[in-house]
Amino acid sequence: MSAAREACDVAYSLAEEQDFQQVLNICGSDAFDGLDYMAATFHRWLQEPGRLVFVARMTNRVVALESALLVDGGQTVVFQGLRVAPDLRGRGIAGALQRHVTDYVRRHYPQVSAVRLSRGDRPSPQTLAKYRVIAKEAILCLCCEAADLGLFVAELSSRLPGRADPSPPAPVTLSQQQAETLLLSEHVVSNLLPGKTIINDWEPLRPVEANMEVLRRRGLTWIADREFEPAAISLCTTPYAVPYRHDALHFNINVFGRSLASVCAVFLAQLEALLQSLRGYLIFYTYVDPTVWPGLRQTCQNNSNVSLFKDYCQELVLETDL
Ligand SMILES: CC(C)(COP(=O)(O)OP(=O)(O)OC[C@H]1O[C@@H](n2cnc3c(N)ncnc32)[C@H](O)[C@@H]1OP(=O)(O)O)[C@@H](O)C(=O)NCCC(=O)NCCS
Repeated sequence: MSAAREACDVAYSLAEEQDFQQVLNICGSDAFDGLDYMAATFHRWLQEPGRLVFVARMTNRVVALESALLVDGGQTVVFQGLRVAPDLRGRGIAGALQRHVTDYVRRHYPQVSAVRLSRGDRPSPQTLAKYRVIAKEAILCLCCEAADLGLFVAELSSRLPGRADPSPPAPVTLSQQQAETLLLSEHVVSNLLPGKTIINDWEPLRPVEANMEVLRRRGLTWIADREFEPAAISLCTTPYAVPYRHDALHFNINVFGRSLASVCAVFLAQLEALLQSLRGYLIFYTYVDPTVWPGLRQTCQNNSNVSLFKDYCQELVLETDL
């Protein structure tokens, strides 16, 4: 059957709770390097205000999923979660689903003027030409047994340059209110946020009041190197179970700032804050400015059994007009 014919045989609808197992079946346990978040997010996504979750079906089988989240006070949609069943890839189904979602948003939400998304692959120049590149983050992917994380934090802390005399103040855990005040401040927006964008995991948001409600829903831990005019501010997601191993937990730390010492300090403070609650096998991704990545990578060399989960990878934030 031709690719065009196949895309025509697809029916689209909003996802429902009973699609859960079929949605999980789209991607096997090895997809996304074993870190698929769908089991942890599907039910929450269906309940989330401003989120639309679409599935594509062929003869009653769920073969693809895409989600759109209204952000920036309703002016932008963020696409997330795109996936197509492995046996049907390369036949235009993802593109057709994205067109369906875009048309749906145009019809039902005429105030939306832009689409934003994050990509972890390396899109071709032709693909990139369709978008504005808003930001690029480099990802340090580490893994270890939870039992080894305390040793790692102690080892790195003893080596941080800041431990010299006089030592700088310890990083501070921010209340949600403090974090929001900072995120909306001219200093953080202009000097720290990549492309003036808050990136929570793979979710890029403009630093506007309306998006603070989205962040509040995420249960993030916020840590900065100092409360006023910080050189680095970071968020950490709540750890969630992933298919990689029966006891595997994944979490993401996004650090905004270009001072290596400050980035390292808040990265370690985020790990320290999690130490007591973690069990099993940990795979944690830290997203930083690409100029900071080599230094962070070097700082993280250790004798505590924390290793690279995979080598350098990156997240591109792209935007286009609707
Ligand atoms: C990526 C994937 C969805 C592509 O599905 P497909 O049906 O083979 O794709 P198509 O034949 O429609 O052709 C590619 C189109 O898919 C979309 N696409 C491909 N990769 C994408 C990505 N990482 N993020 C967003 N859109 C993507 C684009 O519309 C692309 O067209 P473009 O390159 O001109 O922008 C599929 O390979 C898959 O499910 N991979 C595993 C999950 C995954 O990596 N998802 C993407 C990140 S969330």
